[in-house]
Amino acid sequence: MIVAIDGPAGSGKSTTAHAIADRCNLTFLDTGAMYRAVTWRCLDSGVDVSDGDAVSAVAERAKIVFGKSADGQTVSIDGQDVTRQIRTPEVDRNVSVVSAYPRVREAMVARQRELGAAGDVVAEGRDIGTVVFPNAEVKVFLTADAAARAHRRAVQREGGDAGRDAAAKADAAEERQILQDLVRRDKLDSSRKESPLRPAADAHMIDNSALTPEQVVQQIVDLMDAARAQGEAPKAGEVAPFDDGGERTSPSPAADGGAADAPAGARAKDAAAEKGAGKPAAKAAAKSKAPAGRMRAFAGNSFDDYYDHGMKEFPLPARALLAVAATIVWAVTKVLWPWRIEDVRLLRDDARGRMIVMNHTSMLDPVVIVCGLYFHGIRVRPISKSEFNKTDFVSWLFSRAGAIPVRRGTADLKAVRRAQAALTRGECVLVFPEGTRIKSDDQPVTIHGGFALMAQMAKAPVQPVAIVGARDITPKGTHWKRFGRVFCKAGECIEFSDLGVRGRKQQALRMEEVAMERVYALRDELRREHPGKM
Ligand code: DC
Repeated sequence: MIVAIDGPAGSGKSTTAHAIADRCNLTFLDTGAMYRAVTWRCLDSGVDVSDGDAVSAVAERAKIVFGKSADGQTVSIDGQDVTRQIRTPEVDRNVSVVSAYPRVREAMVARQRELGAAGDVVAEGRDIGTVVFPNAEVKVFLTADAAARAHRRAVQREGGDAGRDAAAKADAAEERQILQDLVRRDKLDSSRKESPLRPAADAHMIDNSALTPEQVVQQIVDLMDAARAQGEAPKAGEVAPFDDGGERTSPSPAADGGAADAPAGARAKDAAAEKGAGKPAAKAAAKSKAPAGRMRAFAGNSFDDYYDHGMKEFPLPARALLAVAATIVWAVTKVLWPWRIEDVRLLRDDARGRMIVMNHTSMLDPVVIVCGLYFHGIRVRPISKSEFNKTDFVSWLFSRAGAIPVRRGTADLKAVRRAQAALTRGECVLVFPEGTRIKSDDQPVTIHGGFALMAQMAKAPVQPVAIVGARDITPKGTHWKRFGRVFCKAGECIEFSDLGVRGRKQQALRMEEVAMERVYALRDELRREHPGKM
């Protein structure tokens, strides 16, 4: 397996790649060290770094070798160990110029591919996912804000480790200087013509400003597990459905709708059945369906227990509470905002687990679907953004209502696995691909890609649903709700086999397009049938 980790200076690529190499027994390939070694050679032998031809000649002749010592990895150039020399501020200042020369890059990329030819490599740099190993099974783009990166570097120079010691301090003047250098280097690295620093289209974006090194490593190990279980790495916008990189522009420019909750996303073979790495996909999938033990009959279940089990397995008090709450919410909302699901039989008469996708305009939207189907014996699990779970009380309430939280902006494989498991056991999963409530037709809409992949993993159809009128109950600029009728309409389920395209990825992309087109077509039908309703 090849794992590609790219990102700007000081984003923690080395620490992360080292840890992954150790934990997963991969060879660590520090490509920055190679550009640094060439830079050091030029400086040491008096070659003017602004002379592209001279620097390129050094790079083309250089013999760069990685070795091991008690302290870790060593690097030598033309037989000289330069492990320490390549980390000096002077090399820092000149390496961006050296690494921008096309012939230097060509020579280094050729050597990197040689070193990676045996496979089982974790390589870090700026162009690994885009140029060096474009077919890497897992691609990650690590970022962190510039101040956090400068702080880590400054602490590191003074012998500390800011990743492990959050209170670590560094000399303020030095930190400022490092920040300036980093910003300058980022600019040079991203604006150069040859292989500029940028994420590969299928890279998973991980912002680690507020994550510990262990959390970052775990996210990548999860991606590797998912890739192994699938025999193919999850791509951004697929496994990282909740990631900005996975958004797609709405096919309908004036969408309304949106949903509180999350964009759904993606794929991930049940997170590789978590620890099921390396197992055949079918085995991994089977593992995802197995509930993690029985729930306790009364109290003592964790939030995770609620997310991981079917709603019919919830303990009796929780089921009773849900029945009472659903009845009250149903009655109150029916009186205040008389709502109706048209063609409810399309939702009611299908016993399969389905991915329900819907436009999102108001907090009433999930209520209509969840309560509307509850009394037909169909359990609907909304994917909700984890930002809602600010307090234990909210988490308690949402978990009992069957919501599955998703951490947006991350590759939340756990949420993907839970949604897949719910679909597989016959529950419906509700996703608002617009990702947020859309308050007016002028509001730009982005569709969070990936719900289709989640459905695909569970072999579940996607059912489009639209709602109108719910937006009108909250006049703009107020939180007050006013009386108004709300109409909801379901469409026929869309089957992957009916899409007329082959290939997993193509099918998933087509499903995203078709499902959202149908949602907006249903919404437009409702608007025509109920003039004035938005
Ligand atoms: O990751 P680092 O700071 O050790 O990298 C040193 C420089 O090398 C950095 O400014 C950009 C360049 N580099 C590159 O252009 N391509 C790579 N694959 C790795 C590093």
